[in-house]
Amino acid sequence: MIALDRDPSAPGFRYADRRAIVSTEDESGIERLASAERVDGLIAPGIDWPVAIAARIAERLGLPHPISPETAALSTSKLRQRERFAEAGVPQPAYEIGSGAAEATAAAERIGFPCVIKAPDRQGQRGLTLVRAAQDVAEAVRVALDASRTATLLVEEHVPGLEVTVNAFSAGGHFYPLTVTDRLTAPLPAFGVALTHAWPSELEPMAIGTVVEAAAAAAAAVGIENGPSYTQVLVGPEGPRVGELAARLGGGHDAELCRVALGVDLNGAALSAALGEEVPATSLAPVARVGGACVRFLVAPPGALREVTGIEEAFAQEGIRGIRIYRRPGHRFEEFRRGADRAGAILAVGKSREQALERASRAEETIRFETDVEALV
Ligand SMILES: Nc1ncnc2c1ncn2[C@@H]1O[C@H](COP(=O)(O)OP(=O)(O)O)[C@@H](O)[C@H]1O
Ligand SMILES: [Mg+2]
Repeated sequence: MIALDRDPSAPGFRYADRRAIVSTEDESGIERLASAERVDGLIAPGIDWPVAIAARIAERLGLPHPISPETAALSTSKLRQRERFAEAGVPQPAYEIGSGAAEATAAAERIGFPCVIKAPDRQGQRGLTLVRAAQDVAEAVRVALDASRTATLLVEEHVPGLEVTVNAFSAGGHFYPLTVTDRLTAPLPAFGVALTHAWPSELEPMAIGTVVEAAAAAAAAVGIENGPSYTQVLVGPEGPRVGELAARLGGGHDAELCRVALGVDLNGAALSAALGEEVPATSLAPVARVGGACVRFLVAPPGALREVTGIEEAFAQEGIRGIRIYRRPGHRFEEFRRGADRAGAILAVGKSREQALERASRAEETIRFETDVEALV
């Protein structure tokens, strides 16, 4: 296995046979490497933009791949998938597309407030703003245009209510829903940043059914017949609205949560699909292993990281199945605004969702991020 990353200290390198210091967005560099090494398949787990790169390179090199370049393109553009969902009748928030600041501003006025302005081709809350009033539009448009790879912006109705994630796997055109988790987000101003994924969802079984139907419709609309999908569904007063879909595993340790909750190895299934191997239905059959499970993300105070303490003590606590610390000493934490500002994560299980959440909180309190705030000059 060859892992690639532009960062020489990327944590994934330790799991690979070989490492290549190549950006995951360097399409021609990856293609040269894949071709020279005669790889059997490509996978971009848990990261969006390279999903389309992997699909295109696989097609050009004649390698098996779970999704077509067209499906991958739809899955990596918030804008193109909105258009596709509209054609296919997939429930989603009202939206408008604006090219440039003037159009985006006019679109926000039409959608009304609160609305959400976002860069259609960025992830992880980059270029994303909740706009509560007309006077905040200009700044939100500036933030989105700054982040966007093009001059096009998406303006959406803000759907209030609960947000859930449907982690699923498709095999031979059949959609297997697995963990449906509640996405509990950080308080403003860190809009839309997940702090906890909790399983099972608090929604009633009937509502979970409609959420899964919406996710299945979204996957069908973009053409996912094989491989993982990760669908965020906003459950508003008028029912489920698909926030976005990705043709990959969730980036918030969703596969690990699924494994401890339901005994299904999504990482293994995604790798099999990337190699063109058949994924048998039996390997996707969920069997509840615990009553509840959660991923809790850790937040560090701003400043330069000196050290992290209490990890072993936290890991020894009951029900703690995993702890990840994302950053090394010297890393500078910014004010908490988006996904990349998170400092780590805890995977906890329990007899119930509540117990898993309590255990995660206890472990979270045990772990301390010591940071130095530089004196202001
Ligand atoms: N139209 C919307 N209504 C309500 N919440 C939204 C909306 N759009 C985005 N959000 C919130 O912001 C988060 C991130 O937005 P999303 O479009 O999924 O972009 P990304 O995950 O790439 O940053 C969502 O998970 C959700 O919490
Ligand atoms: Mg998202």
